[in-house]
This record gives sequence, C-alpha cells and structure tokens, in this order.
Amino acid sequence: MDFNASSAQLLNIKADSLILPTGPQLKDSAAALDGSLDGAISSLIKAGDFSGKLAETLVMHIPGASGKRIILLGTEGATTIQQQIKVIEAGAAALLKTPSAKAVWVGEGLGADAEWEAGIVSRSVQTASYHYSHVPKGQQKTKTIKLKTLTYWAPGKSEASAAKKGLSYGAAVGNGMNAARQLGNLPANICTPSYLADQAKTLAKGVAKVTTTVLSEAQMTKLNMGSLLSVSAGSDQPGHLIVIKYSGAKASVKPVVLVGKAVTFDTGGISLKPGGGMDEMKYDMCGGASVIGVINALIETQMPINVVGIIPAVENMPNGHATKPGDVVTSMSGQTIEILNTDAEGRLILCDALTYAERFKPESVIDIATLTGAVIGALGKVTAGMLSNDDELAEQLLSSGTRSGDRAWRLPLWDEYDELLKSNFADMANIGGPQAGTITAACFLARFTKKYKWAHLDVAGTAWVSGAAKGATGRPVPILMDYLRSKAQ
Ligand code: BES
Ligand code: MN
Ligand code: ZN
Repeated sequence: MDFNASSAQLLNIKADSLILPTGPQLKDSAAALDGSLDGAISSLIKAGDFSGKLAETLVMHIPGASGKRIILLGTEGATTIQQQIKVIEAGAAALLKTPSAKAVWVGEGLGADAEWEAGIVSRSVQTASYHYSHVPKGQQKTKTIKLKTLTYWAPGKSEASAAKKGLSYGAAVGNGMNAARQLGNLPANICTPSYLADQAKTLAKGVAKVTTTVLSEAQMTKLNMGSLLSVSAGSDQPGHLIVIKYSGAKASVKPVVLVGKAVTFDTGGISLKPGGGMDEMKYDMCGGASVIGVINALIETQMPINVVGIIPAVENMPNGHATKPGDVVTSMSGQTIEILNTDAEGRLILCDALTYAERFKPESVIDIATLTGAVIGALGKVTAGMLSNDDELAEQLLSSGTRSGDRAWRLPLWDEYDELLKSNFADMANIGGPQAGTITAACFLARFTKKYKWAHLDVAGTAWVSGAAKGATGRPVPILMDYLRSKAQ
C-alpha cells in the first residue's frame, strides 16, 4: 500500500474513491464538492439517505463519472479521540469493501490534528486489509486487496507535510499490529516456542539494526532460571528465551526493554483448565507477539531509539515431568517460589525474564502479558490493566494509550495486596487467592523489578476478541509504539 499526502486542488487529484468525513451540515471542502456536483450530496442528506451521524457510511456514485464514488462518512458528535478513531475505522472498512484502487481521504471535517488523523487513517487501512492466512505469504488464495494508493488530502501545505509523517508512522504501526495478529491467530501446533524463535531470527535477517539471540533450555539452566524452566518442564516442546535487540540510536542511549509473555498454549498444566473455550489459550503468546510486532514497526519507521525485546516462550502442558502444585522452585533472582497453582504460569516465566532484563541497564522496562482472567472482570475487554512502580512512566503510558486509542487503566500495587503472596514454604507463593487477581499477579512481578522503572500491561482482555469475529487485535502495539515514539523525540 502506498500512502501520500497532498494539498493540491481536491478535484484535480485522480482517484476512484473519495472519502468525505462530514456531519449533516456540509462545510468547507464538503460544501465545495457538493456545489461542483449540483447538490448531489446535500440532496442525499435532504432525502434522509445520509444523516451524518457518527461512523455512518454511504457510498454514492458520482453522476456521469463511471466507477467513481464518494464515500460519505458521518462525523456528528465525534469529539473524543476514541470516537474519531471509530469514525476513521468505519471509513477504512467502507473503502476496502469497494473495488477502489486509488483513494483520496479528505482530511477535513473531523477537526483533528492532521498528523494524528493521517496516522490513524493509514493504520486503520492496514489493519482492515489483514486476512488470516494459514499458509505462508505468496501461497495463499485469500482475496487480495485492490487498493494500491491512498492520498491524504489536507487543506494546507504544512498540514499535508505533517500528514505525510503521520501516514508512514501509522502504516508501520498497522503492519506491526498485523504481524502480531498473524502470530496470535496461528494454531498452537504451528506457533510453538521454536516457531516464534525462528520468526524472531527472520526479523533480524538483512537488517543491520536488529540482532536476535535465542537461549536454549540448557543455557537457561546455566543462568538458574528455575522458575521459567518449571513451566516448560511439562511439555515436549523445548522452551526458549528470545532476545531481539533493535539499535536505532547511539550505544550510549539506554534501551527500553519490552518483555512479552509467550505461552504458546496454556492448558493450565497439572492445575488443568476446564475444557470450554480452551482453544483460546493459543492466544496466550500475544504479549510476545506484540513485542515482535513492535520490532517490525521500529524497523519500518527506522525510529532513533534503542529497544530490547525479551520473549520467554514456552508451552504449559501436564506431562510426566510437569511441575506439581506445592513444588518449590528457585528463580534466577535467588528468590524461591511455592507453585500452588500451575495455571499461574505467566508470572513464573516473566519473573526470570525480568531479572534477565537487568543486564541491559534499561531506561524502563514494560512487560506485556495475557496474565489474568481477573483483568477482564475488572476492566472488561475495553482497556488493558496497567500497574507500575513509577508514577512518571505510568502517566506517560496513560497518555500514549489515550493518543493511540489503545488505552490502559492503572491499578494499585499496594503492600496490602503483596501480603497475600505469603507462603509457609518459600519466599512467596505464585498465587494470592481469589481476590484482586490482577493486582496480586503484578505484586508478584514487582518483587523482581525493584532495580528499574517498570510497568506491566495485563492484556488478557484486549489482545484478542472471542465469538463470531474471533481473532487477535494487534493490541497493545499502538500504545507501545506511541510511548517509544515520544521517548525517541
Ligand atoms: N493465560 C491465563 C490468563 C487468561 C485467562 C487470559 C483467561 C485470558 C483469558 C493465565 O495463565 C492464567 O491461567 N491465570 C489464572 C491465574 C490464577 C490461577 C491465579 C487465571 O486468571 O485464572
Ligand atoms: Mn495459566
Ligand atoms: Zn497463561
């Protein structure tokens, strides 16, 4: 897909579709367009075919110009960022339903900042173009996208040049989301820990800024990662610690470290999960997939920043070597853990990855994990849960979430919750009981992140959707990219 920006005379730009965001009152370019079409748009409004309400779409063919269309896109009441994104996503979806090859997006009518709006436009067009494909690229028979070029039109030159920046950033974010979605959607018999390691290695091929190293179980044994290894013990699939370094800035710039949970399938282990809906536990690697998606997007944008991605990748299975409830393991940090529930495995792999992160002398560390069902109870499927030991980092993530429309909401990490992790037989238990499950999970992680600024994103509710539209969402790639972008500036 080719994205460009222009402030040339709107009707002089050659295209077969024009996306026109407007409310019921036509203003500026919408009114001018209507005038040059003998009132064709206003008569549709008058007749009641199009009311301009939020995210409504209507495809109208331009009289006398065969194969050319205007996609009216309702903007009424779109005042919040979230509402504006909803409008743009509806416009992108309507555009891709047409056989259009060359489109113009009228960057007026929403009243948003041009760079931001253009970024959401290109991101939405990319994510709306994603189709799950079970076979490698080039061999698939799924319907191909006809759209080749999208021009973002802005009323002035400076807005057009700002929009240009937004377009390339947003397209990279969208591509990163699609990469994460594809890994998430792949079944667990294909997307194993070794598959993820191979994907991470492929990412680095021919890219000077990126290096991938994969630690084997033997190497992790030498590092004393007893907690991580206790999870992969019950699986025939070997576990891996995948480390991807993106060096876009000078070596002296401290890296942001992203740690992504990648349990390629979570049966619960000996504390076996109930059967209903268990297929969705193939998505338990979406944290790791989002890290790969972010590295993808960093490569595409060539962002001047240093990032280290760490992905503990394992399968949680109940074979004869599996960890049993009551087993005590020693983590890389030296702290001992009584495993009371083998289904609380995410924290067990993350804690060793978080200790490993220390060696990179990080600017900040963000872990991303489908960690608890409890976060869905607390926040639904709307926002990620966020917990942090640093107020400034937490504030930065909250505003990145708002700006990108990929929101997070902070929960507390107070001592009263941490006390629930007490164990009679080890430094801590791996579960805190039935209450405040998201918080006690984060309190567990907090015991391993004392040496740096850290935030935890619990994306169990947001990384994929269930039901008829079942599929990975690509979240939280947008919030992470926004955070990195503001760090890079
Ligand atoms: N991967 C799950 C969390 C999860 C559950 C995500 C449902 C999305 C939907 C995690 O490993 C898990 O099993 N967590 C347990 C923790 C409990 C045993 C303390 C949970 O949430 O039930
Ligand atoms: Mn589990
Ligand atoms: Zn899990």
